[in-house]
Amino acid sequence: MNSPRLLQLHHDADDAAEAAAGLLRPHAALAPKFFYDAQGSALFDAITRLDEYYPTRTEAAILAEHGTAIADAVRGHTGPAPVIVDLGAGNCAKGAALCALLAPQRYVAVDICAEHLAGALAPLQREHPALELVGVGLDFSRRLELPAGLAGTRALVFYAGSSIGNFDPVAALELLRQARALAGSGALLIGVDLVKASDVLEAAYDDALGVTAAFNLNVLRHLNTLLGADFDLRQWRHVAHYERAASRIEMHLEARAACLVRWRGGQRAFAAGERIHTENSYKWTRDAFAALLREAGFGEPRHWSDARGWFALFVAGGRGRA
Ligand code: AVI
Repeated sequence: MNSPRLLQLHHDADDAAEAAAGLLRPHAALAPKFFYDAQGSALFDAITRLDEYYPTRTEAAILAEHGTAIADAVRGHTGPAPVIVDLGAGNCAKGAALCALLAPQRYVAVDICAEHLAGALAPLQREHPALELVGVGLDFSRRLELPAGLAGTRALVFYAGSSIGNFDPVAALELLRQARALAGSGALLIGVDLVKASDVLEAAYDDALGVTAAFNLNVLRHLNTLLGADFDLRQWRHVAHYERAASRIEMHLEARAACLVRWRGGQRAFAAGERIHTENSYKWTRDAFAALLREAGFGEPRHWSDARGWFALFVAGGRGRA
């Protein structure tokens, strides 16, 4: 039996400086990656099981219903037994489903922390003893580049869960260009959350149980550890709303009262009602996302949706415009 190989390419020394700089911006803002310490990852897993949070189960249902057609479309670009590069692989549950469909020669799971990937890759290795498994710790929101040879020349780049929505359109285009370079003449399989009614979207990001509120507030707990900050979580409240003009859910943390927050090497006073912008989650129309893929250099994409048209999985070949 093979055993998973782990490569840690991200070193979080820069993260503390990035978070502190975000807190000091005129409108304080943090990158969504700061949600995902161990507690935040567990809260996100809980979000994916909420009644209101439809993206995860809708994407899984599309893959279950159209898996054969999607696999055929992918193989049309990658050939049989491709290398799969799974971006933001997390617990590798979606990657495992894809391995069952595509029988790859190598599965490369990419996420910020290779050590966390180890726990997810071990059971996958038991299921597929001969499969080559690699866990790569990389912050691909900075730059998506893997060690030479790891992805081969016709890889399937898999980016599930509508995480592309956490990038603004300019950054999304850049990431897609890098994904295209990584795929070579292979393909991209990507999940995209679609524009829909505001009440459905706002409930998904402000659920009745308060799990998303806890997920959002947890970023302050994470910063208390990362920066030695002294955020008092009870002084902050979760805010989520849909900005139709920008086609995005915005999440913020709002100070309930004026407060001073200190951390190693810095501090900031917040007025009552002042906000920290913690996340954008862009929603796309199918046409606009297909256009973005073409602009990133992919060939003509195909997509599969659920009956309500809430979510789409796109397959696009890397052999598009150079
Ligand atoms: C990871 N990402 C796609 C999620 C989203 O829907 O934007 C993160 C999330 N934020 C709040 N709920 C879920």
